[in-house]
Amino acid sequence: MSIITKPLIRELRQQFALDWNDIHGAPHWARVRLNGLLIAKTNSARKDVVELFAFLHDSRRQNDGHDPEHGARAATYANQLRDRFFTIDDVGFKLLQFACRHHSESESSSDLDITVQTCWDADRLDLGRVGIKPRPGRLHTEKAIEPLFLKNAYGRSLK
Ligand SMILES: [Fe+2]
Repeated sequence: MSIITKPLIRELRQQFALDWNDIHGAPHWARVRLNGLLIAKTNSARKDVVELFAFLHDSRRQNDGHDPEHGARAATYANQLRDRFFTIDDVGFKLLQFACRHHSESESSSDLDITVQTCWDADRLDLGRVGIKPRPGRLHTEKAIEPLFLKNAYGRSLK
Protein backbone atom coordinates (compact mmCIF):
# COMPACT_ATOMS: atom_id res chain seq x y z
CA MET A 1 0.00 0.00 0.00
CA SER A 2 1.19 3.47 -0.83
CA ILE A 3 2.08 5.95 1.89
CA ILE A 4 0.45 8.62 -0.30
CA THR A 5 -3.17 8.80 0.85
CA LYS A 6 -6.14 10.86 -0.30
CA PRO A 7 -6.13 13.04 2.85
CA LEU A 8 -2.43 13.83 2.24
CA ILE A 9 -3.11 14.76 -1.38
CA ARG A 10 -6.06 16.91 -0.31
CA GLU A 11 -3.85 18.73 2.20
CA LEU A 12 -1.09 19.28 -0.37
CA ARG A 13 -3.50 20.58 -2.96
CA GLN A 14 -5.28 22.91 -0.59
CA GLN A 15 -2.06 24.70 0.40
CA PHE A 16 -0.26 24.58 -2.99
CA ALA A 17 0.48 28.13 -4.18
CA LEU A 18 0.91 27.33 -7.88
CA ASP A 19 -1.06 25.77 -10.71
CA TRP A 20 -1.78 22.19 -9.65
CA ASN A 21 -1.37 20.92 -13.21
CA ASP A 22 1.64 22.97 -14.24
CA ILE A 23 5.37 22.12 -14.30
CA HIS A 24 5.84 21.83 -10.53
CA GLY A 25 2.43 20.37 -9.70
CA ALA A 26 0.79 16.99 -9.34
CA PRO A 27 1.55 15.51 -12.80
CA HIS A 28 5.26 16.12 -12.12
CA TRP A 29 4.97 14.59 -8.64
CA ALA A 30 3.28 11.51 -10.08
CA ARG A 31 6.05 11.02 -12.65
CA VAL A 32 8.75 11.51 -10.01
CA ARG A 33 7.00 8.87 -7.90
CA LEU A 34 6.93 6.46 -10.81
CA ASN A 35 10.57 7.11 -11.73
CA GLY A 36 11.59 6.68 -8.10
CA LEU A 37 9.67 3.46 -7.57
CA LEU A 38 11.08 1.97 -10.76
CA ILE A 39 14.62 2.82 -9.65
CA ALA A 40 13.90 1.57 -6.12
CA LYS A 41 12.97 -1.83 -7.54
CA THR A 42 16.60 -2.24 -8.58
CA ASN A 43 18.37 -0.99 -5.46
CA SER A 44 17.78 -0.75 -1.70
CA ALA A 45 16.21 2.72 -1.70
CA ARG A 46 13.31 3.17 0.70
CA LYS A 47 10.08 3.27 -1.24
CA ASP A 48 8.18 5.17 1.46
CA VAL A 49 10.77 7.97 1.40
CA VAL A 50 10.84 8.01 -2.41
CA GLU A 51 7.05 8.39 -2.57
CA LEU A 52 6.91 11.11 0.08
CA PHE A 53 9.76 12.97 -1.60
CA ALA A 54 7.91 12.88 -4.93
CA PHE A 55 4.81 14.52 -3.45
CA LEU A 56 6.50 16.93 -1.04
CA HIS A 57 9.70 18.22 -2.63
CA ASP A 58 8.05 20.94 -4.76
CA SER A 59 4.90 21.34 -2.69
CA ARG A 60 6.03 24.60 -1.07
CA ARG A 61 7.24 26.37 -4.16
CA GLN A 62 6.17 29.99 -4.33
CA ASN A 63 6.91 30.41 -8.02
CA ASP A 64 7.85 28.25 -11.01
CA GLY A 65 11.21 29.95 -11.49
CA HIS A 66 13.98 30.90 -9.07
CA ASP A 67 12.92 29.79 -5.59
CA PRO A 68 16.06 28.58 -3.81
CA GLU A 69 14.39 28.07 -0.42
CA HIS A 70 11.61 25.79 -1.60
CA GLY A 71 13.48 22.63 -0.65
CA ALA A 72 14.05 23.86 2.89
CA ARG A 73 10.39 24.87 3.15
CA ALA A 74 9.37 21.38 2.01
CA ALA A 75 11.54 19.84 4.73
CA THR A 76 9.90 22.02 7.38
CA TYR A 77 6.45 21.27 6.00
CA ALA A 78 7.19 17.53 6.15
CA ASN A 79 7.56 17.96 9.89
CA GLN A 80 4.09 19.49 10.12
CA LEU A 81 2.57 16.65 8.10
CA ARG A 82 4.29 13.82 9.94
CA ASP A 83 1.98 11.83 12.23
CA ARG A 84 -1.01 13.73 10.84
CA PHE A 85 -0.95 12.44 7.26
CA PHE A 86 1.76 9.78 7.35
CA THR A 87 3.96 7.97 9.83
CA ILE A 88 7.60 7.13 9.31
CA ASP A 89 10.52 6.16 11.53
CA ASP A 90 13.23 8.69 12.40
CA VAL A 91 15.83 7.30 9.99
CA GLY A 92 13.39 7.50 7.07
CA PHE A 93 12.25 10.95 8.08
CA LYS A 94 15.82 12.27 8.19
CA LEU A 95 16.40 10.93 4.69
CA LEU A 96 13.19 12.56 3.48
CA GLN A 97 14.09 15.91 4.98
CA PHE A 98 17.63 15.81 3.60
CA ALA A 99 16.39 14.84 0.14
CA CYS A 100 13.83 17.67 0.13
CA ARG A 101 16.12 20.31 1.59
CA HIS A 102 18.95 19.80 -0.87
CA HIS A 103 17.24 18.56 -4.02
CA SER A 104 17.69 21.69 -6.09
CA GLU A 105 21.33 22.31 -5.23
CA SER A 106 23.84 21.46 -7.92
CA GLU A 107 26.31 19.90 -5.50
CA SER A 108 26.96 16.25 -6.16
CA SER A 109 28.54 14.19 -3.44
CA SER A 110 29.72 10.62 -3.87
CA ASP A 111 28.69 9.40 -0.42
CA LEU A 112 25.00 10.15 -0.70
CA ASP A 113 22.57 7.61 0.71
CA ILE A 114 21.06 5.42 -2.01
CA THR A 115 17.56 6.60 -1.07
CA VAL A 116 18.58 10.24 -1.54
CA GLN A 117 20.28 9.38 -4.84
CA THR A 118 17.09 7.68 -6.00
CA CYS A 119 14.90 10.63 -5.02
CA TRP A 120 17.09 13.12 -6.86
CA ASP A 121 17.40 10.98 -9.98
CA ALA A 122 13.64 10.50 -10.05
CA ASP A 123 13.18 14.28 -10.08
CA ARG A 124 15.95 14.94 -12.58
CA LEU A 125 14.60 12.32 -14.99
CA ASP A 126 11.50 14.51 -15.37
CA LEU A 127 13.36 17.59 -16.63
CA GLY A 128 12.14 17.11 -20.19
CA ARG A 129 8.96 18.96 -19.21
CA VAL A 130 10.99 22.18 -18.94
CA GLY A 131 13.08 21.57 -22.04
CA ILE A 132 16.11 19.98 -20.39
CA LYS A 133 17.45 16.60 -21.37
CA PRO A 134 18.91 14.90 -18.28
CA ARG A 135 22.58 14.07 -18.71
CA PRO A 136 23.86 10.75 -17.36
CA GLY A 137 26.76 12.58 -15.71
CA ARG A 138 24.31 14.37 -13.43
CA LEU A 139 22.54 11.18 -12.37
CA HIS A 140 23.56 8.98 -9.46
CA THR A 141 21.97 5.54 -9.70
CA GLU A 142 22.87 2.75 -12.08
CA LYS A 143 19.27 2.32 -13.19
CA ALA A 144 18.77 5.97 -14.08
CA ILE A 145 21.72 6.02 -16.47
CA GLU A 146 20.63 2.93 -18.38
CA PRO A 147 20.02 4.31 -21.89
CA LEU A 148 16.58 2.72 -22.36
CA PHE A 149 15.39 3.69 -18.89
CA LEU A 150 16.59 7.26 -19.38
CA LYS A 151 14.93 7.42 -22.80
CA ASN A 152 11.59 6.14 -21.48
CA ALA A 153 11.60 8.56 -18.55
CA TYR A 154 12.45 11.43 -20.89
CA GLY A 155 9.56 10.38 -23.13
CA ARG A 156 7.15 10.44 -20.19
CA SER A 157 8.44 13.86 -19.12
CA LEU A 158 7.46 15.39 -22.46
CA LYS A 159 3.78 14.41 -22.24
FE1 LIG B 1 10.67 18.42 -8.86
